[in-house]
Amino acid sequence: MTTATSLYPLSTRAAALRSSDVRELLKAAQRADVISLAGGLPAAELFDAEGLRAATRAALETPAAALQYGLTEGQPALRAALEARERSHGIALAGRSLLVTTGSQQALDIVARLLLDEGDVVVVQRPSYLAALQTFALAGAQCVGLEEDEDGARVEDLETLAFARKPKLIYLVTPFANPSGASLSLRRRQWLLDWAARHQVLVLEDDPYGVLRTEGEAPPSLMALAQDVPGAAAWCGRTSTLSKAVAPGLRLGWLLLPQALAEAAARVKQALDLHTSSFAQEVAAQYLAGDRLEAHLQRVRGAYRERRRALCEALHAAFGDALVFSEPEGGMFVWARFTDGTDTRVLLPRALAAGMAYVPGDAFYADAAPRDRLRLSFTTEPPARLREGVARLHAAWQATRGA
Ligand SMILES: Cc1ncc(COP(=O)(O)O)c(C=O)c1O
Repeated sequence: MTTATSLYPLSTRAAALRSSDVRELLKAAQRADVISLAGGLPAAELFDAEGLRAATRAALETPAAALQYGLTEGQPALRAALEARERSHGIALAGRSLLVTTGSQQALDIVARLLLDEGDVVVVQRPSYLAALQTFALAGAQCVGLEEDEDGARVEDLETLAFARKPKLIYLVTPFANPSGASLSLRRRQWLLDWAARHQVLVLEDDPYGVLRTEGEAPPSLMALAQDVPGAAAWCGRTSTLSKAVAPGLRLGWLLLPQALAEAAARVKQALDLHTSSFAQEVAAQYLAGDRLEAHLQRVRGAYRERRRALCEALHAAFGDALVFSEPEGGMFVWARFTDGTDTRVLLPRALAAGMAYVPGDAFYADAAPRDRLRLSFTTEPPARLREGVARLHAAWQATRGA
């Protein structure tokens, strides 16, 4: 087969990019007969299309804002709305600046281009969000992983890890990590900020899932805490997104950085895309100015809680001690480990043949990966289909054991 790599002189970095397992897998999982717990998608039937239709109409009332080129930093109305949201979560904006981005994925790309040279070290959690690993790889960086436990990434290991170079960036998904669902504890947040301030390494907090908390108390964000740790505010950045709260199709996220860095980030963004879609931004600004978001979020959280419960109960009932996982207090994923040595790569084709899909855990590691994990998303299927998906997974698992 002719591939792009064999036919065209691709750049070394592009040629080295692994194709995303998740995306390849989603292709097979799109078969109508497959119950897919593989994707990391919000539930499409819960989108507030009516609210967004009204917001679109309102945005088009001012074509000079919605349809014209806009500012690299973002449309003023949306920036103000996002800043107000961040302030309401205890984040002070003095000395910081907010840049609207094309999803938080672009925020990761901007930070990577801003800071990373070939061979630079980025500290990530292990397992990690796959597309972040790809972004850092594309920037030529090496990722070094911090193991995770129930309290999130073991940041204390920063003291003992041997780095080829001093890290330039620490990237962590702080609440409900993708894929593990783990959240960084308050104690670790404070420890990390103190370490980052002393060593002058930028910590980038990625928070797409905090908005999907259904239980428990959220610790303050790293950025809010950084205000109280001497020297830390200058070494803390944050990105979040409207993808999970409103809709990923808007492709709207934001990046908060210390002022001096934000100005350099805006120059990087200008070179990438001039600005994020002004149309999408004006629609979002109209939507956020209305009164529908909270009711929408309550609906979404209620549905996700019910689905998560259904999935966890079905997994417990079907697998007992053969599968261990902890139920997260929010987010979109359950991360589970087989205790009988089942290889989730080997199991996957059988699961697909039985009519269900998941993501094998080794897809989320940049280096040697355990083969006994899997990520299950509970957001896109109603409880009965989740139960059926687990029944199919169980049948496939039993078949491999019998084989
Ligand atoms: C941890 C994490 N960060 C960032 C993103 C990117 O989100 P978006 O670009 O849609 O804002 C995702 C998407 O699933 C994610 O899981």
